[in-house]
Amino acid sequence: MDRMVIIAVIVWIVTLSVFRFGPALTPATEIEPAEGERPAAFFPHDNHMEVLDCLACHHRYEDGKNVATEDELDGSDEMRCRYCHHEDASVNAREAFHRQCIRCHRQYDKAGETTGPRTCGECHPVTVPEDAYGLVIER
Ligand code: HEC
Ligand code: HEC
Ligand code: HEC
Ligand code: HEC
Repeated sequence: MDRMVIIAVIVWIVTLSVFRFGPALTPATEIEPAEGERPAAFFPHDNHMEVLDCLACHHRYEDGKNVATEDELDGSDEMRCRYCHHEDASVNAREAFHRQCIRCHRQYDKAGETTGPRTCGECHPVTVPEDAYGLVIER
Protein backbone atom coordinates (compact mmCIF):
# COMPACT_ATOMS: atom_id res chain seq x y z
CA MET A 1 0.00 0.00 0.00
CA ASP A 2 2.81 2.42 0.97
CA ARG A 3 4.53 1.71 -2.29
CA MET A 4 1.39 2.69 -4.22
CA VAL A 5 1.36 6.01 -2.39
CA ILE A 6 5.01 6.66 -3.23
CA ILE A 7 4.43 5.81 -6.91
CA ALA A 8 1.37 8.04 -6.99
CA VAL A 9 3.37 10.92 -5.55
CA ILE A 10 6.17 10.45 -8.11
CA VAL A 11 3.68 10.36 -11.01
CA TRP A 12 2.05 13.50 -9.62
CA ILE A 13 5.37 15.39 -9.36
CA VAL A 14 6.44 14.38 -12.88
CA THR A 15 3.06 15.38 -14.30
CA LEU A 16 3.19 18.71 -12.52
CA SER A 17 6.66 19.55 -13.81
CA VAL A 18 5.66 18.69 -17.38
CA PHE A 19 2.56 20.90 -17.26
CA ARG A 20 4.28 23.68 -15.31
CA PHE A 21 6.78 24.38 -18.06
CA GLY A 22 4.95 22.86 -21.01
CA PRO A 23 6.59 21.64 -24.18
CA ALA A 24 6.68 25.07 -25.86
CA LEU A 25 8.72 26.69 -23.10
CA THR A 26 12.45 26.37 -23.33
CA PRO A 27 15.17 28.31 -21.51
CA ALA A 28 15.55 31.77 -22.97
CA THR A 29 19.27 31.27 -23.53
CA GLU A 30 18.68 28.65 -26.24
CA ILE A 31 19.48 30.97 -29.17
CA GLU A 32 23.24 31.28 -29.62
CA PRO A 33 23.75 34.78 -31.01
CA ALA A 34 25.76 35.18 -34.20
CA GLU A 35 28.81 37.40 -33.91
CA GLY A 36 27.80 41.01 -33.24
CA GLU A 37 24.17 39.94 -32.72
CA ARG A 38 22.12 40.13 -29.56
CA PRO A 39 21.25 37.02 -27.53
CA ALA A 40 17.60 35.92 -27.61
CA ALA A 41 15.25 38.36 -25.95
CA PHE A 42 13.89 37.13 -22.64
CA PHE A 43 10.13 37.09 -23.03
CA PRO A 44 8.08 35.69 -20.14
CA HIS A 45 4.94 35.09 -22.25
CA ASP A 46 3.04 33.51 -19.32
CA ASN A 47 3.28 36.66 -17.17
CA HIS A 48 1.93 38.72 -20.04
CA MET A 49 -0.96 36.32 -20.69
CA GLU A 50 -2.00 36.78 -17.08
CA VAL A 51 -2.14 40.58 -17.11
CA LEU A 52 -3.03 41.43 -20.72
CA ASP A 53 -5.57 40.62 -23.37
CA CYS A 54 -4.17 38.29 -26.07
CA LEU A 55 -5.25 40.72 -28.78
CA ALA A 56 -3.25 43.55 -27.22
CA CYS A 57 -0.31 41.88 -29.02
CA HIS A 58 -1.63 39.34 -31.52
CA HIS A 59 -3.37 40.84 -34.53
CA ARG A 60 -4.61 40.28 -38.05
CA TYR A 61 -5.98 43.38 -39.70
CA GLU A 62 -8.91 43.75 -42.10
CA ASP A 63 -9.79 47.30 -43.15
CA GLY A 64 -7.57 48.60 -40.38
CA LYS A 65 -9.39 46.58 -37.68
CA ASN A 66 -7.86 43.79 -35.62
CA VAL A 67 -10.07 40.80 -36.52
CA ALA A 68 -7.87 38.12 -34.95
CA THR A 69 -9.56 35.74 -32.50
CA GLU A 70 -8.13 33.79 -29.58
CA ASP A 71 -9.06 30.54 -31.37
CA GLU A 72 -6.57 31.16 -34.14
CA LEU A 73 -3.71 31.60 -31.66
CA ASP A 74 -2.65 27.98 -32.04
CA GLY A 75 1.10 28.27 -32.50
CA SER A 76 0.83 27.98 -36.31
CA ASP A 77 3.15 29.79 -38.73
CA GLU A 78 0.36 32.18 -39.75
CA MET A 79 0.19 33.74 -36.29
CA ARG A 80 3.95 34.31 -36.01
CA CYS A 81 5.03 37.91 -36.10
CA ARG A 82 7.58 37.17 -38.82
CA TYR A 83 4.92 35.61 -41.05
CA CYS A 84 3.74 39.15 -41.86
CA HIS A 85 6.62 41.26 -40.56
CA HIS A 86 9.20 39.76 -42.92
CA GLU A 87 12.22 41.54 -44.33
CA ASP A 88 10.30 43.25 -47.17
CA ALA A 89 7.30 44.29 -45.05
CA SER A 90 6.69 47.96 -44.33
CA VAL A 91 7.37 47.10 -40.68
CA ASN A 92 10.06 44.41 -40.48
CA ALA A 93 10.41 41.92 -37.64
CA ARG A 94 12.96 43.87 -35.68
CA GLU A 95 10.80 47.01 -35.76
CA ALA A 96 7.63 45.05 -35.03
CA PHE A 97 9.02 43.38 -31.91
CA HIS A 98 10.81 46.44 -30.65
CA ARG A 99 7.92 48.82 -31.19
CA GLN A 100 5.38 46.52 -29.57
CA CYS A 101 7.43 45.61 -26.49
CA ILE A 102 9.04 48.98 -25.84
CA ARG A 103 6.00 51.14 -26.60
CA CYS A 104 3.87 49.30 -24.06
CA HIS A 105 6.54 49.19 -21.36
CA ARG A 106 6.99 52.97 -21.77
CA GLN A 107 3.24 53.58 -21.48
CA TYR A 108 3.04 51.61 -18.24
CA ASP A 109 6.15 53.35 -16.93
CA LYS A 110 4.64 56.76 -17.66
CA ALA A 111 1.50 55.76 -15.82
CA GLY A 112 3.69 54.80 -12.87
CA GLU A 113 2.77 51.10 -13.10
CA THR A 114 4.88 47.95 -12.86
CA THR A 115 6.30 47.19 -16.25
CA GLY A 116 9.06 45.49 -18.24
CA PRO A 117 12.51 46.53 -19.47
CA ARG A 118 13.29 49.24 -22.01
CA THR A 119 17.01 48.84 -22.70
CA CYS A 120 18.84 46.44 -25.04
CA GLY A 121 20.76 44.62 -22.34
CA GLU A 122 17.75 44.11 -20.12
CA CYS A 123 15.71 42.53 -22.91
CA HIS A 124 18.60 40.61 -24.46
CA PRO A 125 20.39 39.44 -21.31
CA VAL A 126 23.53 37.39 -21.75
CA THR A 127 22.41 35.14 -18.93
CA VAL A 128 19.06 34.59 -17.27
CA PRO A 129 18.51 32.88 -13.93
CA GLU A 130 18.40 29.11 -14.38
CA ASP A 131 14.83 28.86 -13.15
CA ALA A 132 13.56 31.67 -15.36
CA TYR A 133 11.42 30.38 -18.19
CA GLY A 134 10.45 32.44 -21.17
CA LEU A 135 9.35 32.00 -24.74
CA VAL A 136 12.19 31.72 -27.24
CA ILE A 137 11.06 33.56 -30.36
CA GLU A 138 12.62 31.97 -33.44
CA ARG A 139 14.75 34.19 -35.64
C1 HEC B 1 2.58 41.06 -24.58
C2 HEC B 1 2.21 40.52 -25.85
C3 HEC B 1 1.48 39.20 -25.89
C4 HEC B 1 0.35 38.84 -25.21
C5 HEC B 1 -0.49 39.64 -24.24
C6 HEC B 1 0.07 37.48 -25.63
N1 HEC B 1 1.01 37.06 -26.53
FE1 HEC B 1 1.10 35.24 -27.37
N2 HEC B 1 2.90 35.71 -28.20
C7 HEC B 1 3.45 36.98 -28.22
C8 HEC B 1 4.66 36.95 -29.01
C9 HEC B 1 5.55 38.14 -29.31
C10 HEC B 1 4.82 35.61 -29.45
C11 HEC B 1 5.92 35.06 -30.36
C12 HEC B 1 5.37 35.02 -31.76
C13 HEC B 1 6.35 34.52 -32.78
O1 HEC B 1 6.99 33.47 -32.55
O2 HEC B 1 6.48 35.16 -33.84
C14 HEC B 1 3.69 34.86 -28.92
C15 HEC B 1 3.48 33.51 -29.13
C16 HEC B 1 2.29 32.85 -28.85
C17 HEC B 1 2.01 31.47 -29.17
C18 HEC B 1 2.99 30.50 -29.80
C19 HEC B 1 3.80 29.88 -28.66
C20 HEC B 1 4.97 29.05 -29.11
O3 HEC B 1 5.04 27.89 -28.75
O4 HEC B 1 5.86 29.57 -29.78
C21 HEC B 1 0.73 31.20 -28.76
C22 HEC B 1 -0.02 29.88 -28.91
C23 HEC B 1 0.22 32.42 -28.17
N3 HEC B 1 1.20 33.40 -28.23
C24 HEC B 1 -1.04 32.57 -27.65
C25 HEC B 1 -1.43 33.64 -26.85
C26 HEC B 1 -2.70 33.69 -26.12
C27 HEC B 1 -3.79 32.61 -26.19
C28 HEC B 1 -2.70 34.85 -25.42
C29 HEC B 1 -3.74 35.39 -24.47
C30 HEC B 1 -4.16 34.51 -23.40
C31 HEC B 1 -1.43 35.53 -25.72
N4 HEC B 1 -0.72 34.76 -26.59
C32 HEC B 1 -1.04 36.75 -25.20
C33 HEC B 1 2.97 38.08 -27.57
C34 HEC B 1 1.89 38.08 -26.72
C1 HEC C 1 -1.39 38.42 -40.19
C2 HEC C 1 -0.31 39.38 -40.33
C3 HEC C 1 0.34 39.94 -39.08
C4 HEC C 1 0.82 39.25 -37.99
C5 HEC C 1 0.81 37.76 -37.75
C6 HEC C 1 1.39 40.24 -37.10
N1 HEC C 1 1.26 41.49 -37.63
FE1 HEC C 1 1.88 43.22 -36.79
N2 HEC C 1 0.98 44.28 -38.29
C7 HEC C 1 0.41 43.72 -39.40
C8 HEC C 1 -0.08 44.79 -40.27
C9 HEC C 1 -0.76 44.62 -41.63
C10 HEC C 1 0.22 46.01 -39.61
C11 HEC C 1 -0.09 47.44 -40.09
C12 HEC C 1 1.21 48.13 -40.42
C13 HEC C 1 1.86 47.62 -41.68
O1 HEC C 1 1.58 48.16 -42.75
O2 HEC C 1 2.69 46.68 -41.63
C14 HEC C 1 0.89 45.64 -38.37
C15 HEC C 1 1.36 46.55 -37.44
C16 HEC C 1 2.15 46.24 -36.36
C17 HEC C 1 2.75 47.21 -35.47
C18 HEC C 1 2.58 48.72 -35.54
C19 HEC C 1 3.70 49.31 -36.31
C20 HEC C 1 3.79 50.82 -36.12
O3 HEC C 1 4.53 51.42 -36.88
O4 HEC C 1 3.17 51.32 -35.21
C21 HEC C 1 3.50 46.53 -34.55
C22 HEC C 1 4.32 47.11 -33.43
C23 HEC C 1 3.33 45.11 -34.86
N3 HEC C 1 2.51 44.96 -35.97
C24 HEC C 1 3.91 44.08 -34.16
C25 HEC C 1 3.58 42.72 -34.32
C26 HEC C 1 3.99 41.66 -33.43
C27 HEC C 1 4.92 41.81 -32.25
C28 HEC C 1 3.42 40.51 -33.90
C29 HEC C 1 3.46 39.13 -33.28
C30 HEC C 1 2.95 39.04 -31.93
C31 HEC C 1 2.66 40.86 -35.09
N4 HEC C 1 2.78 42.19 -35.30
C32 HEC C 1 1.97 39.95 -35.89
C33 HEC C 1 0.29 42.39 -39.69
C34 HEC C 1 0.62 41.34 -38.83
C1 HEC D 1 0.70 45.62 -24.06
C2 HEC D 1 1.74 45.80 -23.06
C3 HEC D 1 3.00 44.95 -23.11
C4 HEC D 1 3.66 44.45 -24.20
C5 HEC D 1 3.27 44.58 -25.67
C6 HEC D 1 4.84 43.78 -23.72
N1 HEC D 1 4.90 43.88 -22.35
FE1 HEC D 1 6.39 43.11 -21.16
N2 HEC D 1 5.38 43.74 -19.53
C7 HEC D 1 4.17 44.41 -19.53
C8 HEC D 1 3.70 44.59 -18.16
C9 HEC D 1 2.42 45.27 -17.73
C10 HEC D 1 4.69 44.00 -17.33
C11 HEC D 1 4.67 43.88 -15.81
C12 HEC D 1 3.98 42.58 -15.51
C13 HEC D 1 3.78 42.36 -14.05
O1 HEC D 1 2.96 43.07 -13.45
O2 HEC D 1 4.45 41.48 -13.51
C14 HEC D 1 5.73 43.47 -18.23
C15 HEC D 1 6.87 42.83 -17.79
C16 HEC D 1 7.89 42.36 -18.62
C17 HEC D 1 9.13 41.77 -18.15
C18 HEC D 1 9.56 41.63 -16.70
C19 HEC D 1 8.96 40.36 -16.14
C20 HEC D 1 9.42 40.10 -14.74
O3 HEC D 1 8.95 39.10 -14.18
O4 HEC D 1 10.21 40.86 -14.19
C21 HEC D 1 9.85 41.41 -19.26
C22 HEC D 1 11.21 40.76 -19.29
C23 HEC D 1 9.04 41.78 -20.42
N3 HEC D 1 7.87 42.37 -19.98
C24 HEC D 1 9.43 41.57 -21.73
C25 HEC D 1 8.63 41.87 -22.83
C26 HEC D 1 8.99 41.60 -24.22
C27 HEC D 1 10.28 40.96 -24.66
C28 HEC D 1 7.96 42.02 -24.98
C29 HEC D 1 7.80 41.96 -26.47
C30 HEC D 1 7.85 40.63 -27.08
C31 HEC D 1 6.95 42.59 -24.09
N4 HEC D 1 7.39 42.47 -22.80
C32 HEC D 1 5.75 43.14 -24.52
C33 HEC D 1 3.49 44.87 -20.62
C34 HEC D 1 3.80 44.58 -21.94
C1 HEC E 1 11.50 45.44 -24.61
C2 HEC E 1 12.41 44.43 -25.05
C3 HEC E 1 13.47 44.75 -26.07
C4 HEC E 1 14.36 45.81 -26.08
C5 HEC E 1 14.44 46.99 -25.14
C6 HEC E 1 15.26 45.54 -27.19
N1 HEC E 1 14.91 44.38 -27.83
FE1 HEC E 1 15.82 43.57 -29.45
N2 HEC E 1 14.35 42.18 -29.63
C7 HEC E 1 13.34 42.00 -28.72
C8 HEC E 1 12.51 40.89 -29.15
C9 HEC E 1 11.29 40.35 -28.44
C10 HEC E 1 13.07 40.41 -30.35
C11 HEC E 1 12.59 39.22 -31.20
C12 HEC E 1 13.14 37.94 -30.57
C13 HEC E 1 14.61 37.76 -30.76
O1 HEC E 1 15.08 37.81 -31.92
O2 HEC E 1 15.32 37.59 -29.75
C14 HEC E 1 14.26 41.23 -30.62
C15 HEC E 1 15.11 41.08 -31.71
C16 HEC E 1 16.32 41.73 -31.87
C17 HEC E 1 17.29 41.42 -32.89
C18 HEC E 1 17.14 40.39 -33.99
C19 HEC E 1 16.36 41.05 -35.09
C20 HEC E 1 16.14 40.18 -36.29
O3 HEC E 1 15.85 40.74 -37.34
O4 HEC E 1 16.21 38.96 -36.21
C21 HEC E 1 18.35 42.27 -32.69
C22 HEC E 1 19.65 42.33 -33.52
C23 HEC E 1 18.02 43.12 -31.54
N3 HEC E 1 16.77 42.76 -31.08
C24 HEC E 1 18.84 44.11 -31.06
C25 HEC E 1 18.44 45.02 -30.07
C26 HEC E 1 19.19 46.23 -29.70
C27 HEC E 1 20.53 46.65 -30.31
C28 HEC E 1 18.46 46.87 -28.74
C29 HEC E 1 18.73 48.22 -28.06
C30 HEC E 1 18.78 49.35 -28.95
C31 HEC E 1 17.28 46.06 -28.47
N4 HEC E 1 17.31 44.96 -29.29
C32 HEC E 1 16.31 46.37 -27.53
C33 HEC E 1 13.12 42.73 -27.57
C34 HEC E 1 13.82 43.86 -27.19
